[in-house]
Amino acid sequence: MNIMLLGAPGSGKGTQAAMISGRYGIPHISTGDILRQAVTDGTGLGLKAKGYMDRGELVPDEIIIGVVEECLQEKDCERGFILDGFPRTVAQAESLEKSLKGMGRSLNVVLNIEVEDEEIIRRLTGRRICERCGRIFHLLFDPSKKGEVCEVCGGDLYQRVDDTEETVRRRLEVYKEQTAPLIDFYERRGLLRNVQGEKSAADVFEHIQGALEGIRG
Ligand code: AP5
Ligand code: MG
Repeated sequence: MNIMLLGAPGSGKGTQAAMISGRYGIPHISTGDILRQAVTDGTGLGLKAKGYMDRGELVPDEIIIGVVEECLQEKDCERGFILDGFPRTVAQAESLEKSLKGMGRSLNVVLNIEVEDEEIIRRLTGRRICERCGRIFHLLFDPSKKGEVCEVCGGDLYQRVDDTEETVRRRLEVYKEQTAPLIDFYERRGLLRNVQGEKSAADVFEHIQGALEGIRG
């Protein structure tokens, strides 16, 4: 199954992708995670991306498209994949369509997770992430049972630099200007499924599983 998760920052793409990956055994490709790792490692990609990410802007299409193309060639993507945070512009979506076509493949479904702006601000300003295993928490909505450390692996929890209210508001503007047009793009291709994101993560996942039933890929 070749799945793409669409949705504003904080709509729950990473949370749901981890659940889908666990349930269906297909890899989760998060361009945000790949770029953050590159920043931490100080690679050329990270150096190019950091300024854009800190400001809440998108990194240029030509930087990110090649990164995803490489991931899709990996053996573990043969049985399917979950794209989270890519494509993010119409140019990225067109390029993805072309690369998949070249591989004799295509997306099976685009899940569009819908959440209102004020809920997004609450979610992102309270988000904490395990620096070791990447588990996503929320100080109020999904706190770690071990407080300041990850309940899964004991790693320290950190807050993303782009999760301040000011940067989240900029990310929301960028989403509306550059990414929301993909809703129409995929609607026209008959791939879009809207998912009501303002329910518990477990309820959202149940809805997603329902939407994935009957989809072949
Ligand atoms: P990226 O990392 O992709 O960030 P984003 O799209 O802004 O999305 P987030 O990761 O912030 O949110 P999410 O939807 O994954 O929510 P989560 O599950 O964590 O991108 C970061 C930056 O990288 C971009 O700004 C850009 O610079 C660059 N970039 C990345 N991809 C790019 C591309 N293709 N092109 C160009 N630039 C690119 O949940 C959020 C919080 O809510 C958590 O605390 C969670 O516990 C909580 N939560 C989740 N679900 C629920 C629920 N149902 N109820 C209550 N709380 C919930
Ligand atoms: Mg994410």
